[in-house]
Amino acid sequence: MTDPNNGGSIATANRAAEINAGHDRYLWDAVMRYYETPLPLARGRGQHLYDYDGNEYLDFFGGILTVPVGHCHPTVTQAIQQQAETLVHTSTLYPTGPIVELAEKIASLTPGDLSKTFFTNSGTEADETAIMLAKAATGNQAVIALRHAYAGRSMLAVTLTAHAPWRSVDYISGIKHALAPYCYRCPLKLEYPSCGVACAEDLEELIKTTTPGRVACMIAEPIMGVGGFVTPPTEYFQIAAEIVRRHEGLLIADEVQTGWGRTGTKMWGIEQYGVTPDVMTMAKGVANGMPMGVTVTTPDIAAKWEGLTLSTFGGNPLACAASRATIQVIEEDNLAENAETQGRRLRDGLEKLQEKHALIGDVRGMGLMQGIEMVADRRTKEPAVSEIMQLMEETKKRGLLIGKGGLYGNVVRVAPCLNIGADDVDRAVEILDDSFAAIG
Ligand SMILES: Cc1ncc(COP(=O)(O)O)c(C=O)c1O
Repeated sequence: MTDPNNGGSIATANRAAEINAGHDRYLWDAVMRYYETPLPLARGRGQHLYDYDGNEYLDFFGGILTVPVGHCHPTVTQAIQQQAETLVHTSTLYPTGPIVELAEKIASLTPGDLSKTFFTNSGTEADETAIMLAKAATGNQAVIALRHAYAGRSMLAVTLTAHAPWRSVDYISGIKHALAPYCYRCPLKLEYPSCGVACAEDLEELIKTTTPGRVACMIAEPIMGVGGFVTPPTEYFQIAAEIVRRHEGLLIADEVQTGWGRTGTKMWGIEQYGVTPDVMTMAKGVANGMPMGVTVTTPDIAAKWEGLTLSTFGGNPLACAASRATIQVIEEDNLAENAETQGRRLRDGLEKLQEKHALIGDVRGMGLMQGIEMVADRRTKEPAVSEIMQLMEETKKRGLLIGKGGLYGNVVRVAPCLNIGADDVDRAVEILDDSFAAIG
């Protein structure tokens, strides 16, 4: 018999073990899972997730920053239910109310003249669409991405991604990886601000030495998510945009993780740097967990895509209805402001932990996107790789789910839903404190 309180799954005493065994048997080994014994999840509500034994977890990773308004938010659920009873699929061959209403809403929230959207189903597709558009619009082929970036799992996205473990099958030509604005591990061994943001200035030489001197675009995350919440200095994007545009390129802001108020106060991460991009991509939180990718640009740039294109599922009515409801909650509940307020509280808490625990080398991020880089030795900055695994186990034992990232897999990623409250932030910091203490 199926049990709705158990993830709509067949209810048996050893359901979690059965799911793990089934996963091992029927899914690809390459599918990454957290924890020594992976954690099958049965249901979610608000900031909480529940396993098959009914244990409750405070979710401070949100399915990789993908549920900004919390699990199964009633407004989003109702919108999905209503739409499911009305119309589920048409393809982009037939316009629908939900796709146009959502595109109009996005246009009202994006900066500058970014008002024309193409919908797909994932961040990978959104980024891939943006790169194809930049090539079409400029007539140039060279693409600049950042070292430590992540862009998804198509062949192009894997090649844009700059982490060896995620690049087992690359290679599309014409992609140049620029130095990352990663101050804690500065690639030029300089100190901010006396460095003069030399990593950004280096783009000029990168373009002049590794491309024909003209580029299609630069794609960059305002805060590098999978890279371990690497947060560029404030001036980075102004310098980068000027250099890229002077060489005919477009600036693509990958807002897949940083969008929808995540970074606090502002709707988009790139706005924190006072720059308006030419193209923005979004996914993850856009529909609170329903699959959706968004590529938005100006009418002039969109018009440069000549020829035909379609997406069978892109902008399907269900995902659009979910997204419209998600945005409604983000706006009505002032969640960008809450991300700022609770983000400060979280940051203060994490900085206090840094004073206490030698394993914490760096705390960085914005709003409700805070990273803790763990090091075995603060002087050498040797990544604390086994220690982060232990920390994950300890936090799980205490009922807190967190993420990890970074080139060495040594950065804790803390990113709860945007409507998190002060008590839950304090609780998460307390659990992290106890867990760091437990691993010494
Ligand atoms: C910044 C960024 N861009 C693109 C992607 C790819 O998104 P998806 O997994 O939906 O294809 C991700 C996924 O983590 C991401 O973090």
